[in-house]
Amino acid sequence: MTMILAIETSCDETACAVVEDGRRILSDIVSSQINVHTKFGGVVPEVASRIHVENISAVITEAIEKAGVTMDDIDAVAYTQGPGLVGSLHVGVQAAKTAAWAFGKPLVPVNHMTGHIYANAFVSELKFPLMALVISGGHTELVWMQDEWDFKVIGTTRDDAIGEAYDKVARVLGLGYPGGPKIDRIAKEGKPHYTLPVPKVSTPYDFSFSGLKTAVLQLIQREERKGEAVSAADVAYAFQETALASMTDKTVKAVGEYRPAMLVLAGGVAANSRLREMITEKMKDSGTELVIPPLRCCTDNAAMIGAAGYIAYKRGLFGGYDASADPSMLMPGEEFE
Ligand code: KG4
Ligand code: ZN
Repeated sequence: MTMILAIETSCDETACAVVEDGRRILSDIVSSQINVHTKFGGVVPEVASRIHVENISAVITEAIEKAGVTMDDIDAVAYTQGPGLVGSLHVGVQAAKTAAWAFGKPLVPVNHMTGHIYANAFVSELKFPLMALVISGGHTELVWMQDEWDFKVIGTTRDDAIGEAYDKVARVLGLGYPGGPKIDRIAKEGKPHYTLPVPKVSTPYDFSFSGLKTAVLQLIQREERKGEAVSAADVAYAFQETALASMTDKTVKAVGEYRPAMLVLAGGVAANSRLREMITEKMKDSGTELVIPPLRCCTDNAAMIGAAGYIAYKRGLFGGYDASADPSMLMPGEEFE
């Protein structure tokens, strides 16, 4: 039995979890700063790191207490090294080093995106080869895993990440931050009234969302010039249908070519209800098992860092006290390409 204490502070959630054998969550504490950042219309990095500093000790203490363990029971301290906001990451890195040093535990640095992928281990035992669609505020990637801890990015975005596009479209519609869940909600009342251009990228598995975002902006300006009232629900519907259809089509195509045993969704945008519906429908006769993480595991949390950290721990991927935050950290394996 291996017990991992995991710390995650890459963006605006201060999180700590205790995870047993990478599969069993003993505690999973997430302190969200969303109410503060909403006032500014987005995450303010400086403010985020200050709030992490204020909360990190209490969040770690609570995770240990809720798990009903002591530091003696912990085998290693895993933490998010990157990618993310440098000031935010730094707080988690320092907290992890301090805990590891004070209690004589090994340190396991974890890439945030591997955490999102391994969050699926809480749903089902991962089967390889595996394809992961990693979609968040900073990433849109198709990751091919021939085997455990073997990551190859076969497709990525040429411009904006899908979550970023959701957030920007929500902003022009005056829906506020974070935009993803808001568009998800109002699109349900939208009607197929507007048509938006389907993103075009020549490479088979790459994505693009910035043209679509601009098209939304132009559509709103055009309607306003004509003196027409713009229905935010209809615009949200058109944007979401176009973005998700293009992304899921490419994913299903990659599944057809690579034939993985499993397709997993990962990252904040995997919480999207329409995406879950669309991908379930398109994957139904594919012969590949589809795993969608529970809502709570889609957005940032520390349990997922415990799940990925457990695999890294088993592989002896320890870090030293000289390690620092890596805001643009690549996936393991990518750094050698
Ligand atoms: O993984 P995450 O919590 O943080 C990053 O690592 O970026 O993802 C945050 C992103 C934001 O862009 C947010 O708008 C988006 O995930 N998101 C959603 C939904 N819930 C969160 N996007 C679409 N539909 C949702 N229901
Ligand atoms: Zn994330």
